[in-house]
Amino acid sequence: MPEYRTIDDIRLGDNEFWTRSIDDRHEAFAKLRNESKNGDGMCFHEEISVIEGGIRGPGFWSAVTYDDVRAINRNPQAFSSASGITLGEVPPESLEFFGSMIVLDDPRHAKMRLLVQKGFTPKTIASIEESVRARAKRLVADVREMGDCDFVEQLAAPLPLGVICDMLGVPPEDEQQIFDWTNIILGAGDPDFAMDLDALILGAAGMFDYAQALGQDRLDRPTDDIASILMHAEVDGERLTASEFGSFFILLAVAGNETTRNAISWGMHQLTAHPDQRRQLQENYAEMSLAAADEIVRWASPVIHMRRTANHDIEVGTTKISAGEKVVMWYWSGNRDEDWFPHGERFDINRPNTKDMEGYGAGGPHFCLGANLARREIQVMFDEIFTQIPRLEISGEPDRLVSGFINGIKRMPCTLDPG
Ligand code: HEM
Repeated sequence: MPEYRTIDDIRLGDNEFWTRSIDDRHEAFAKLRNESKNGDGMCFHEEISVIEGGIRGPGFWSAVTYDDVRAINRNPQAFSSASGITLGEVPPESLEFFGSMIVLDDPRHAKMRLLVQKGFTPKTIASIEESVRARAKRLVADVREMGDCDFVEQLAAPLPLGVICDMLGVPPEDEQQIFDWTNIILGAGDPDFAMDLDALILGAAGMFDYAQALGQDRLDRPTDDIASILMHAEVDGERLTASEFGSFFILLAVAGNETTRNAISWGMHQLTAHPDQRRQLQENYAEMSLAAADEIVRWASPVIHMRRTANHDIEVGTTKISAGEKVVMWYWSGNRDEDWFPHGERFDINRPNTKDMEGYGAGGPHFCLGANLARREIQVMFDEIFTQIPRLEISGEPDRLVSGFINGIKRMPCTLDPG
């Protein structure tokens, strides 16, 4: 393994780094990009298990420029997903729960993805638009009655959670339980959720068992939801195993709610911080909402990184990577690369090339399956807020998730009438 190398003690593998301010984070990645572009290539970072009982891995290369992230993401022959997609090691006890298509390479990955792809095309998303809007309308109307409240709890979280639960076939009375399990799974390393391996496993096993019961029900009484589709599907002539179905369910439930929740929360945060842009957006919503939704995802980068493992020795830019070494693609950093996004640390809905951002991935085979859905959810939610509560503002600091994987906000107060 290479020697550990970083600059200014920027320890991306350590949870402490992710407790620092967003400005510190901007500055640290700008330094790493600078180093990388100056010919020194990628840094090799030390890995420190984020949870007690987790495994301390051998370290990882950090791809921090837009071009390096893209090169790795688009080269699945050289860079495999099969050994895990987060920078930390996957504990063997949890493989059954997290072994979904996101940690498979083609051709198996492509076959699994095909099973659900139809549910996420622009055409299908357009067909559920009405129900997404009705949901958002109701949530915002409830807040109008309620008054000042927590933005995440009342608005940002329930929309994507309700939509994905509906698609999966989870009844409304179980949504809160799915939400709690999701928080544990993606909150590993945050003191509010899971600080040790046992807590993580307990959360994942809870959702896995829930999925099995739902799947059994849909096997006997199929409907048109995704659980039914997966239970009756065949890949290479065989039904999915319990583990394949359960991990697929966990992937969709988790990916479908936490990421969009954080995009909506950071979006409201940034629109409050930039009243001129907010005014411009509110006055020209139809023309500007898609670009604004993409700028929110660029700036927030709700998924901060994904990891790959080199299948063979390969060079990326000036960095020599050996077979078996881990490479982390920092989407957060690619999205701030000044060669692509001048002053990338600034939120700016008028950027001419926001659509090129890497927030949903960088064009490889694992590109976000839910990108069309997420874009619509973000646009519909802000449309409803601006229509029903046009003066709603964030009124306090976000309580951020401690995580190098998800750029999350746990709680954040809002006021309906800032006076
Ligand atoms: C703003 C919201 C979202 C963001 C920022 C986001 C981001 C991402 C990223 C970065 C990836 C990995 C791409 C790669 O490695 O190449 C991904 C994959 C994925 N996302 Fe999303 N996502 C969002 C919303 C959603 C939603 C609503 C769903 C709905 C279920 C979803 C489902 C998935 C799935 C299933 C994958 C794995 C795809 C595969 O392995 O082929 N995502 N997402």
